[in-house]
Amino acid sequence: AREYLGYSFEQINQVAKFLKLVVPDFKPLVGVICGSGLGPLADSLQDKKEVPYEDIPLFPTSTVAGHAGKLVFGKIGDVPVVCMKGRFHAYEGYPLWKVVMPVRVMRLLGAEFLIVTNAAGGLQDNFKVGDVMIIKDHINFMGLGGQNPLRGPNLEDFGTRFPPMNKVYDRGLVKAALKIADNLGLKDTTHEGVYACVGGPNYETIAECNMLKIVGVGSVGMSTAHEVIAAAHCGMKVFAFSLISNSAILDYDSTAIPNHEEVMAAVKASEQRLQKFSEAIIKHMGSG
Ligand code: 6GU
Repeated sequence: AREYLGYSFEQINQVAKFLKLVVPDFKPLVGVICGSGLGPLADSLQDKKEVPYEDIPLFPTSTVAGHAGKLVFGKIGDVPVVCMKGRFHAYEGYPLWKVVMPVRVMRLLGAEFLIVTNAAGGLQDNFKVGDVMIIKDHINFMGLGGQNPLRGPNLEDFGTRFPPMNKVYDRGLVKAALKIADNLGLKDTTHEGVYACVGGPNYETIAECNMLKIVGVGSVGMSTAHEVIAAAHCGMKVFAFSLISNSAILDYDSTAIPNHEEVMAAVKASEQRLQKFSEAIIKHMGSG
């Protein structure tokens, strides 16, 4: 019966204890969920130790063939980091309490910061493919509709039953990241905005895109909000950004068709930039 309610604290702690034995004396300061485009960051860690998801007891495993994920432990400069290379999406069929379990494990391993990234559709006129949108807030359509990773018995060891969400995206980190973007010569291609989480896996209709734009959304995607909610619940400082991988279609006469190939092409072309940007943010977190 527990199956429907999610993992217990003891189960999640068991996963953390397993990983502490795999990487003894390693306490990550920063957890990173590498969305599309940030995989190379995980591969580039120094002194790295990789742990495939399927080797971790109780860990969700990937349903999609050829999409096997792993945790990667290592350092960026002198900052200890744990990366999720490959994440779990609701549209794959995972309940949200499974989607966010790795975040809670990262917290138990000691991570104080969480960086969450995604590839998303852009909705603002000045957003171009390849731009970065630093997420200052979100609209969680799945959550507003009753699908929330915190649904079920509250795990008090992580946080409170009714957590606030008005201070989730750390303002200091947003400001530091904007400055970092400027220093890296990325000022003109870096924005700040609101992310909308939708369930997917289909892309949005024209009416849906126009609605999102009217309510002030900058980027739309199928992840991130759940992980951010779980991180905020257990007291992590959160920084998140979208890579704008395509423009949401707002016009009935447009001949464009959103597709996964264009998304992956934009991701590929942006990898180096995203890695430099993320490394600088991680070093900033380590200096605090
Ligand atoms: Cl246009 N919509 C959604 N929901 N997710 C996306 C996207 C669009 N582009 C990349 N990911």
